[in-house]
Amino acid sequence: MSNAELAEQKTRTLTGAKVSPAYMAHVVLRTTQKDAMAEWYSKVLGTEPVFENEELVFATFDDEHHRIVIYDIGFETSDVPGLSPVDHIAYTMSSLEDILNCYVRLKREGIEPVWPINHGPSISLYYRDPDGNHIELQADTFPTMAECKAYLAQSPEFKADPIGDEFDADALVERYEAGTPLIELFKRGTLPPPKTEPPRTLGPDRSAAVLKMTRPL
Ligand SMILES: [Fe+2]
Repeated sequence: MSNAELAEQKTRTLTGAKVSPAYMAHVVLRTTQKDAMAEWYSKVLGTEPVFENEELVFATFDDEHHRIVIYDIGFETSDVPGLSPVDHIAYTMSSLEDILNCYVRLKREGIEPVWPINHGPSISLYYRDPDGNHIELQADTFPTMAECKAYLAQSPEFKADPIGDEFDADALVERYEAGTPLIELFKRGTLPPPKTEPPRTLGPDRSAAVLKMTRPL
């Protein structure tokens, strides 16, 4: 994907073709000991931090913008019945077209994302498997991995809000097919919000604070 391709305005058709991810991208772990966890993964996997704040450490060991996130949720996952220490597992699709074809196909099969969100370096659709695990399908939003990583490491937008902007996946499909340049579709905050509040609960007995903390990143 070049800068010229990003700016191109052309109508497109999504067929719902069956496409698989290009590769597994990262894992996000919930913890109460962020620094110890980040240090352990640094020793074991050779990770270097890319972005860090009070709650989160994004780290990588190669060109990928992040390979692991250590997410300090402020309480033990064992305190919340059914809450996994794994927040989510992410797979990268090769393009926005691939992720939207996936969305179209799965929606026909009655499988809808629980959380569509533009994180900034990626457009992501989070699905929930039958056991409640969150699986993120993402498409990177910059022409190169170096630009994705630089956005994550240096962007004031990401520093201010490393989570991103939720969006209505159907609106993204409509705009994609109508020919909106990718560079506009990739900007955070330009799509309408989801029609309904994403159902992030992992069970019926969660307090509002826990609900907020248990949503996938
Ligand atoms: Fe993720």
